[in-house]
Amino acid sequence: MLERTFGMIKPDAVANGYVGDILNVIRDSGFRIAGMKMRRVTRPEAEAFYAVHKARPFYPSLVAFMSEGPVVVLVLEGENAIAKWRDAMGATNPANAAEGTIRKKFAESIERNAVHGSDAPETAAQEIPFFFTTAELL
Ligand code: RTP
Ligand code: MG
Repeated sequence: MLERTFGMIKPDAVANGYVGDILNVIRDSGFRIAGMKMRRVTRPEAEAFYAVHKARPFYPSLVAFMSEGPVVVLVLEGENAIAKWRDAMGATNPANAAEGTIRKKFAESIERNAVHGSDAPETAAQEIPFFFTTAELL
């Protein structure tokens, strides 16, 4: 099924210069880029974006990390794009991520883990309009 998912290159990976490398993985995986921009995520935006994790001990640190510097937000389109992007990302903790995955190659730690991806159609449907207007999706 042709799907769209929301992806993000997180502040660690942008600061470490991995934007191009991650875009190469996106190309090699066969996605079409329907939306892309570099911006900062404000603290209130980070709080809202990760509200599902509000009760978790890592939440304050996660919010600080996500708002520390520029990110690249993406809308990726393709067959089964949601699961395919999660596969390309690898496990949350890079220590557990499979060889060849983005997190294995580029993540610093379980928190500073290079990329985000929607985990289900419902989250993609919330996360895409959180960062993109209809006119920004091409
Ligand atoms: P994401 O939502 O960013 O795509 O990552 P995910 O589904 O693989 O992982 P999730 O459980 O949703 O956690 C969201 C983000 O919170 C940070 N985290 N830190 N210190 C920790 O134990 C911990 N656990 C999670 C990571 O940045 C993770 O991607
Ligand atoms: Mg998640």
